[in-house]
Formats: sequence, C-alpha cells, structure tokens
Amino acid sequence: MNSLIDQYVLQNINPADPVLDWLEHETNIRTNHGRMLSGPTLGRLLTTFAQMINAQRILEIGTFTGYSAICLARGLSKTGHLDAFEKNDLLEPLIREGFERAGVSDKISLHFGNALETLPKFSNYTYDLAYIDGNKREYCRYYELIFNMVRPGGYILADNVLWYEKVVMEPLPKDAQTQEIVRFNKMIREDRRVESYILPLRDGLTIIRIL
Ligand SMILES: C[S@@+](CC[C@H](N)C(=O)[O-])C[C@H]1O[C@@H](n2cnc3c(N)ncnc32)[C@H](O)[C@@H]1O
Repeated sequence: MNSLIDQYVLQNINPADPVLDWLEHETNIRTNHGRMLSGPTLGRLLTTFAQMINAQRILEIGTFTGYSAICLARGLSKTGHLDAFEKNDLLEPLIREGFERAGVSDKISLHFGNALETLPKFSNYTYDLAYIDGNKREYCRYYELIFNMVRPGGYILADNVLWYEKVVMEPLPKDAQTQEIVRFNKMIREDRRVESYILPLRDGLTIIRIL
C-alpha cells in the first residue's frame, strides 16, 4: 500500500489506539527492529479476523514486543486464550508492560525459547487460529509443526509472504529468507488439505483455511 492510501485507510478505521501507539514508540526506542512490528493496519485486521471466527484459542509464533499478540488477544472470545511463542526473552519486560497496559495479561501465556523446540510440547492443544510471524527461514517447519494443532475449519495466517517483493524478482535472490518464503508459498499452493488466499496487504498475508 502506498503511504497516502495507508494514511487514508488508517484515518477511516477505528480511532488510534493509545496503548498500541505507545508500544510502537517504545519498540522504536528500545529495539533496533521497529519495522518488524505489524503496525495498525495489519493489527486491526488481526483483531477483526479473530472476532469474525469467535476465536477461543490462538497460537502466535514470533511475538517480538507484543503488538500483534495484543491485537489478536483483543479479538478473542470472552474466555479465549492466546499462546504466544517468542525466542528472545530480553523482550519480556516490554512485552509484559504492553500486555498490562492493554489489559490482556490474563488472556496471554508467553512461552520463551525456540518455537521449533517448544511447540511440540503443545501438540495436544487445539487452536482455532495460528499466526506465523517468526523467522522467515523457518516458515515451512512451523507450518508442519502446527498443522495438526489447528482444528478443521480453523485458520493459519502467515505474514511477510511477499517478502519485500523479493518473491517476484528475477533472478530470484539467493538469500535464505527469500528462498524459504518462496518454498513456503509453493508448499501452501500445493497442499490439498487447505484453501488459501494471499492478501497483498503490507508485506503480504496468507490466509489458510484447514479443510
Ligand atoms: C517479525 S517479528 C514478530 C513481530 C510481531 N508478530 C509483531 O507483529 O509485533 C519476529 C519475531 O520472531 C522471533 N523468532 C524468530 N525465530 C523464532 C523461533 N524459532 N521461535 C520463536 N520466536 C522466534 C524473533 O525473535 C522476533 O521477535
């Protein structure tokens, strides 16, 4: 989306959210990776999506400073719960402060460590929705790990599937992230167990429905 359209969209959806604005500001001050945060347009969509399916249990891979987790938690049903997986435990104080301010601390369990190792411990859980936003080099492995944890009729959302438009560059960039995202997109396209759609919003969001 170009910046004028982006501004117009933001002006015409719900009013700015002071907690999320605070978190975006703190993320930019306290980390060097502010651009990793999902931001208001995608964040609002995540909330709406969770609300639309009346999500009771959500799983997130890649919490960073907690922006998308807050958005997802806000869309949970009244008694719903979010399991958030994040590798970097140095982010914990900022994440928890954001959750407190947003009033969602009791709706989210944080699991620190490499999700490739921690996720299998949750293999008996069933989720309505899973959000993949971790290491771009690991998307296929996340998908394989969580597939059976999402109920039939449930959804998996994957962010950054257009990877700064590198997926359409010729020749295709050789870096591991682009290669994996392309591999992931092909894997979803060929997976007969699902229906999927790529929403060209920001850096691309795949919406995958488990049949
Ligand atoms: C793009 S950021 C997530 C942004 C976040 N979803 C948001 O919208 O604010 C990716 C995050 O994934 C985390 N990550 C990378 N590999 C991971 C892994 N194997 N397990 C858990 N977290 C991982 C990184 O530490 C980073 O915080």
